[in-house]
Amino acid sequence: MKTKIYIKNIGKYSGQTITLKGWLYNKRSSGKLVFLQLRDGSGIIQCVVFKGGVSEEVFKLADSLQQESSISVTGIVKEDKRSPLGYELGVNDLTLIQMAKDYPIAPKEHGTAFLMDHRHLWLRSSRQTAILKIRDEVIFAVRQYFRDNGFTLVDSPILTPAACEGTGTLFETDYFDCKAYLSQSGQLYGEAAAMALGKIYCFGPTFRAEKSKTRRHLTEFWMVEPEVAFNDLEDDMDLAEDFICAVVAQVLKNRRAELEVLERDISKLERVQKPFPRITYTQAIEILNKKGNPTEWGGDIGGDEETLISQEFDRPVIINRYPAAIKAFYMKRDPQDPKLALAMDVIGPEGYGEIIGGSVREEDYDTLVLRIKETGLPVEAFDWYLDLRKYGSVPHAGFGMGIERFIAWICGVPHLRETIPFPRLMDRLKP
Ligand code: 4AD
Ligand code: MG
Repeated sequence: MKTKIYIKNIGKYSGQTITLKGWLYNKRSSGKLVFLQLRDGSGIIQCVVFKGGVSEEVFKLADSLQQESSISVTGIVKEDKRSPLGYELGVNDLTLIQMAKDYPIAPKEHGTAFLMDHRHLWLRSSRQTAILKIRDEVIFAVRQYFRDNGFTLVDSPILTPAACEGTGTLFETDYFDCKAYLSQSGQLYGEAAAMALGKIYCFGPTFRAEKSKTRRHLTEFWMVEPEVAFNDLEDDMDLAEDFICAVVAQVLKNRRAELEVLERDISKLERVQKPFPRITYTQAIEILNKKGNPTEWGGDIGGDEETLISQEFDRPVIINRYPAAIKAFYMKRDPQDPKLALAMDVIGPEGYGEIIGGSVREEDYDTLVLRIKETGLPVEAFDWYLDLRKYGSVPHAGFGMGIERFIAWICGVPHLRETIPFPRLMDRLKP
């Protein structure tokens, strides 16, 4: 394989003449000098074209290049203490690959709607590439964590016959002579796999026809969902806490430069250490009421409430034991108090809201049938799921983490639309 040289490794070539290929990020000229900011996906380097140092055609070309033109640049790698990279390129030669004309995203402020319409180009900005690299790191760290801890990856289907998280947010599609639904969660399949393999996780795109336009909701998002046989609620919370700490630590280790591009307050992420505070739902309501929020016991803890609660803590907080009435059908009730579900949510700090939702699962056949009926779901659709309660049923628990919620928090970006390459929102299906 031919070795290509990338900007991020430029230090290895100090003093040598090399060729870089990429796109023109920005340009500045002053008489005899043209400064080209070249980006190649791995970094940005300043390439200095001196009128006396190149042919007349090359100088003219350099001077006429427009933003985002693709070029190949040959020159000498020089140390430059002032540049963030530590190096610049003294240009000897320059070839045009394609001249871009009137790139729509000029280096100035644009409105969000405009940027979203040009998402396919917006991805090229330093801020967006930093977020994409952090997303890559998060996903890699997630897989690493589960691999290191004895979990097996089991992919769940995307086309499914029934709801997992309530019928209100189902995307329906024709499936030959019946209906199929885009998966809201891989959990039910994860439970089946956990009965085969003990400790599993699934990780894939999930879909919710969310009719709310909030900064925390996408209609298509990626969810990672571990499921563990014989785990109880404490184990589930321990796992969530350990998992979050490991992923945050890996991002801090490998993606500091990108966090700096985003001007993220890294000290806030460094505080993400075990143990996380754990409070019951009842205590959460008390905190809210003390802060003047009127939510009564039994009410939903929504985005505003999550923000109020997170202000009390400097790291994620785990709220547990919610009223069963506001939680999903598959959640096991607390034997100490059947009004409560053995559920837990991890609320991110700094107002990032619920990043994890999980629970102990109801493992008793008759109780589960009753819950399905109470929820108004068709029992037939769950016959295979009920089988898990007939053949060696065991206590088990798991959770789901929305990757984009997690990334938004790590990056310190307020809206989920910047955390996924091509966001799908209620009012956006393009590009
Ligand atoms: O709390 P949720 O609905 O839980 C489940 O789906 C369970 N079946 C997971 C499990 O136990 N295996 O969703 C889990 C997480 C939320 O905490 C949130 O991070 C994210 O998924 N999430 C969304 N992210 C972006 N856009 C949306 N519309 C989301 N809905 C949920
Ligand atoms: Mg939830």
